[in-house]
Amino acid sequence: MNQVGIPNLDKQLEASLIADMKKVEDLMRSHIQGDYPLVVETSRHLVEAGGKRLRPLLTLISAQFGDPTNYDIIKAAVCCELTHLATLYHDDVMDDAVLRRGVISANKKWNNAVAILTGDYLFSKVSDMLADIGPEAVKLQAKTFERLVIGQIKETQGKSEGLSQIDHYMKVVADKTGSLIATSARFGALLSGASPTVVETLTKFGEKIGVAFQVADDLLDIASNETASGKTPGTDLKEGIPTLVTLFVMADNDPADKDLINKLNKPITDEDLPSVISELRKHKALKKVQDYLSKVATEANDLLIDLPAGAAKEALNNLTFALVNRST
Ligand code: IPE
Ligand code: IPE
Ligand code: MG
Ligand code: MG
Repeated sequence: MNQVGIPNLDKQLEASLIADMKKVEDLMRSHIQGDYPLVVETSRHLVEAGGKRLRPLLTLISAQFGDPTNYDIIKAAVCCELTHLATLYHDDVMDDAVLRRGVISANKKWNNAVAILTGDYLFSKVSDMLADIGPEAVKLQAKTFERLVIGQIKETQGKSEGLSQIDHYMKVVADKTGSLIATSARFGALLSGASPTVVETLTKFGEKIGVAFQVADDLLDIASNETASGKTPGTDLKEGIPTLVTLFVMADNDPADKDLINKLNKPITDEDLPSVISELRKHKALKKVQDYLSKVATEANDLLIDLPAGAAKEALNNLTFALVNRST
């Protein structure tokens, strides 16, 4: 594997993505500077902690379908990463999370108020930069952010009347995660001047891999350890948030799972957590989720069929499989 985390990446494309990611990192760090030292420190906390930088990377690869040298592409990539990061500050308050990107979460290092306001500070920085790109960019991010927030609210509120649990989950996942990943791809395509068909294709592709990415993340909440994910496993279970694994267990309704299902109907207690995780890790529902992910990955790559052949298209195909098979 290479520095950008895409298998079998063309060498020339790799060099260009590494150079552009360096510009993204530099701009992101300089852009979060401000007048109040505490909020700069709290923002830097998670910027410096790393993360996969999936969204800016997708912006950069999508820009390969037009002219990738427009500096607005770097700005948009920064905006996508900072929007994402701001939502992580807020999400960790919502989920009462302790660990993020392998370091203590801001809500635990400082407190909830500081974490929420750091997220807001980052949103202000994003708006400022988008305004420099232009009104269309501001509008695109606003609509995306609206969807993302609605997804997060829907997750906390639970399903509405007449919707199945699984349909509710799929809608939440598309809104809270698919939205921004779709927009990350769309920004790259749009700002590179790619054709409208390519812009639409890459947006749909981003949405699809975004859904797969979140489903894989939910799987990792059960299947991974914290060294790999940089987060505390079992957070969804403790918060009582249904995910595809637990929903498949419930839908199966196997009499042998009676006790497990009873537990999954409520937030899992600290005492029950280790045994529930180990039961889920060996449950057939896990395999069903993996199969589902393979199917979505194929659908995502099928969307790319009409894109011009080349290193960028290949990179996207390989990125899809890396995302659904990821362990971090
Ligand atoms: C975490 O996103 C939240 C989800 C949408 C699953 P990432 O897994 O992209 O987090 P970082 O940026 O690598 O920390
Ligand atoms: C996070 O969902 C989605 C957004 C931040 C929009 P999760 O709650 O599943 O993400 P993690 O597991 O905390 O990263
Ligand atoms: Mg969370
Ligand atoms: Mg959450």
